[in-house]
Amino acid sequence: MSQTVLEINQLETSFTRDKQKIKILRGVNFSVNKGEVVGLVGESGSGKSLTSLSIMQLFHDTTGKIDKGTIKFNDQELTKMTESQMRKLRGKQISMIFQEPMTSLNPVLKIGRQLMESIRLHLNYDKEQSRKHAIEMLKKVGIGRAEELMDEYPHQLSGGMRQRVMIAMAMSCNPSLLIADEPTTALDVTIQAQILELMKGLKQDHETAILLITHDLGVVAEMCDRVVVMYAGEVVEEADVFELFANPKHPYTSGLIRSVPKIGENKEELDSIKGQVPSPSNMPTGCKFAPRCEKAMAICNEAAPPMLNINQNSKCSCWLYEKKDVTVHNE
Ligand SMILES: Nc1ncnc2c1ncn2[C@@H]1O[C@H](COP(=O)(O)OP(=O)(O)OP(=O)(O)O)[C@@H](O)[C@H]1O
Ligand SMILES: [Mg+2]
Repeated sequence: MSQTVLEINQLETSFTRDKQKIKILRGVNFSVNKGEVVGLVGESGSGKSLTSLSIMQLFHDTTGKIDKGTIKFNDQELTKMTESQMRKLRGKQISMIFQEPMTSLNPVLKIGRQLMESIRLHLNYDKEQSRKHAIEMLKKVGIGRAEELMDEYPHQLSGGMRQRVMIAMAMSCNPSLLIADEPTTALDVTIQAQILELMKGLKQDHETAILLITHDLGVVAEMCDRVVVMYAGEVVEEADVFELFANPKHPYTSGLIRSVPKIGENKEELDSIKGQVPSPSNMPTGCKFAPRCEKAMAICNEAAPPMLNINQNSKCSCWLYEKKDVTVHNE
């Protein structure tokens, strides 16, 4: 039996604007097992980053707040933890590669000191061992002049270098869960391939569970075992990676896959999903995707579809699959 490392149930997270609560995550459910890479995909604004920030409980100075639901990490309930308990977990047991590298790099501390502090704190290494490990990690993420870089400040580095330093930091303590939010978007393709290989190595050598957030479906196909598709703050489909690409169930997932440009196809206009993600403060009733869906039926505008177990490898919340022989999940 696979061991569940992360299990998110009915997670609801909101922001407050002008004293009004704006619900962004509206009941997110999924899990990640030991040694598994789960891809989290969906258009911009669907709530992918907020899901990861909710797991880490890093709302910084925003009004973000978890309202409901549970986040179980190994045997611990993260929503019940104090900030000091979370601080002990972050960086050691759960690491995150942020979409924006400056979020996790301190601008006034040298790269070496930042890396070494995290390594010393979490791996109990002495100064010399920490320095050696830090340099090794920088080399692993493709930084040639690793020793020199140890004495530089984040602002002296290019965006791609900063991203790699952050990746080195996130991977340096062998976390049991690595959350990578668009880890390679800012990097050129050769470095991207290198980083993806490193992540695969982490999974193979340490059975790290990885939650990989990306817009790049090529990366998903290459890296992931399972895929969770989010739309407007909800999970609309979850499937084994082969099943997802060969036989997408939700019309939204089909649309995302169709929108990927293919080499050799010389179309005048790329396929795209018409319309826009609805505003969190003005969600349609019924299925949130219905106003954009080519297959929408009358019921779609009236009631939200339940999550249905389609087969062993896939779940989908869409009225198209509502038949008597499928079991209703989570509703
Ligand atoms: N600090 C904030 N205050 C208010 N609303 C926010 C804040 N951060 C995010 N949101 C809102 O939460 C929603 C989800 O944002 P999130 O960053 O999770 O999207 P995403 O799926 O990661 O998108 P992208 O692919 O562009 O990174 C968006 O509607 C966004 O406007
Ligand atoms: Mg994001």
